[in-house]
Amino acid sequence: MVHAILFLFVLLTQVSAYRVCPKCGKTKVPYPLSADGNCGDPRYRIYCNDGVLEFMSAQGFYYKINRINPKTNKLVIKPPSIEEDTCYSSDLDQGGLILDESLPFNISTRNTVMLFNCSDNILLSPLNCSSSSFCREFEEVGEGYGCRGTLCCHYLKDSSMTSHRIRVRVGGCTAYTCVVDKQANDSIESWNFGIELQWLPPF
Ligand SMILES: *[C@@H]1O[C@H](CO)[C@@H](O)[C@H](O)[C@H]1NC(C)=O
Ligand SMILES: *[C@@H]1O[C@H](CO)[C@@H](O)[C@H](O)[C@H]1NC(C)=O
Ligand SMILES: *[C@@H]1O[C@H](CO)[C@@H](O)[C@H](O)[C@H]1NC(C)=O
Ligand SMILES: *[C@@H]1O[C@H](CO)[C@@H](O)[C@H](O)[C@H]1NC(C)=O
Repeated sequence: MVHAILFLFVLLTQVSAYRVCPKCGKTKVPYPLSADGNCGDPRYRIYCNDGVLEFMSAQGFYYKINRINPKTNKLVIKPPSIEEDTCYSSDLDQGGLILDESLPFNISTRNTVMLFNCSDNILLSPLNCSSSSFCREFEEVGEGYGCRGTLCCHYLKDSSMTSHRIRVRVGGCTAYTCVVDKQANDSIESWNFGIELQWLPPF
């Protein structure tokens, strides 16, 4: 009996030791995400830099977190910018987005990735590089402008693909963007730019 009570007591104090992180700027940081070493679950590390929540890749590159949905264990990061007048993603030197496979995050299967300035050998892979690919729409606007006229492709990052990276490199494709939950015929104005990540629940 005494043991049972003691056990319960230990269990309760353990549970209450889990501390939800304070807000980062105006953004809530739901458990288990950990925006500093003293709150959340440290395996779910994200970063609060000047009031902006960021996710760090295995290569040490920071991506702004646009949204977090604690109910579905998902968060959406902002695709890297494409440097003005070029067709280079800002994470090109890092090889694109690479997640640490030992951490409980992966790339969800709702992402449509568009690759730009690809070399011809990419045509052999299962990508849609046709003249009707969605990537052609992106080339006509804002950031995509530097990629006009380059060979571009799109693909749905489904479960048959690696869920830990979106690769770019010189000699392959040098820029990319990504749209979450893209519908077949939606127009570019309604595209939901972002890269959706999901996390394994802590228990
Ligand atoms: C496309 O990529 C090649 C290297 O693969 C690079 O030399 C070229 O500058 C890139 N084009 C643009 C518009 O950035
Ligand atoms: C490429 O994507 C476009 C837009 O969804 C589609 O109309 C076309 O049939 C696709 N082409 C191939 C070869 O899959
Ligand atoms: C997409 O196509 C379907 C049927 O072809 C149509 O009902 C729907 O309104 C279209 N959506 C958009 C955003 O054009
Ligand atoms: C990614 O993580 C989720 C949640 O843990 C898991 O259900 C899913 O199978 C993983 N996806 C891949 C492709 O490994």
